[in-house]
Amino acid sequence: MVATTSAQRTAGPTVRRVESARHPAARRIADVLRSRSDTPRVFVIDDRENIEQAVACGIELDSVYATGSAVAEGFPTLAGVGPGTPLHVLDDAVASSLFGRQKQSRVFALAHAPRPPRLGDLTGTTGDVVVLDGVRLVGNIGAITRTACALGAAGVVLLDSDLRTILDRRLIRASRGLVFATPVVIADRDACVDFVRRERLSVAALSADAAEPLHRIRGVADRLAIVVGGERGGVSPALDSLTAHRYAIPMTQKVESLNVSVAAGIALYEHATRR
Ligand SMILES: C[S@@+](CC[C@H](N)C(=O)[O-])C[C@H]1O[C@@H](n2cnc3c(N)ncnc32)[C@H](O)[C@@H]1O
Repeated sequence: MVATTSAQRTAGPTVRRVESARHPAARRIADVLRSRSDTPRVFVIDDRENIEQAVACGIELDSVYATGSAVAEGFPTLAGVGPGTPLHVLDDAVASSLFGRQKQSRVFALAHAPRPPRLGDLTGTTGDVVVLDGVRLVGNIGAITRTACALGAAGVVLLDSDLRTILDRRLIRASRGLVFATPVVIADRDACVDFVRRERLSVAALSADAAEPLHRIRGVADRLAIVVGGERGGVSPALDSLTAHRYAIPMTQKVESLNVSVAAGIALYEHATRR
């Protein structure tokens, strides 16, 4: 049975109730969650903080949803979300059936996809470019994106990340919505190599067994492409062949390597705060 849409008056805008997985709004959410497109037109943003961050970055919302249990004290207020954005309450059972084994949020939005960032968007910008050469854990990619944004990097380039789109729910969450605040470009290695050459960027690769200690990065006046390797393999030969500087962050002998997001953060900070 298709549930009828009942319009409910709360203290503010109209909130529609979605009481069945066959309701048109529920079907739409199911389609978006199922999409495996590299270029989705609509995508999901989970959680209030990320929705607000996305809106502050100019992302246009299509609609906002909260589960029944999340609206006990009224529909959550979302900074920057105008009265024209349709609000819906999803019955908890409908939400569970839609998300299945995927992470279920109590508050989420559908949003219109912005144009995917390209390498060319990093041309003529300032700040270092962070190249993630085979980093695949989305939590690490998100953490680096957040740090890159915080420390004024020009952007982040993802090589061999396994992500089809930066509008990945996990990446949006892991970056705290900052994937919309700094360009995150999915590229292939050849295109990245061309870009680095064209832009005449100096390349600094990070590797735990490099001979030069990282503090020397403070003496490099140029804008850098700072390259970190994947969780397993380290920096690839293609990027390593461009490298002018190889730096290690000195560690005690008890530790083999740092988490890649920690290494990237330390290097970005060291270079961003050079004199
Ligand atoms: C978990 S580590 C990868 C370890 C991998 N077994 C290797 O051989 O590089 C991921 C990335 O973090 C960076 N990294 C980790 N520890 C580092 C350190 N002490 N100094 C410089 N970079 C480091 C490097 O870019 C490395 O490729």
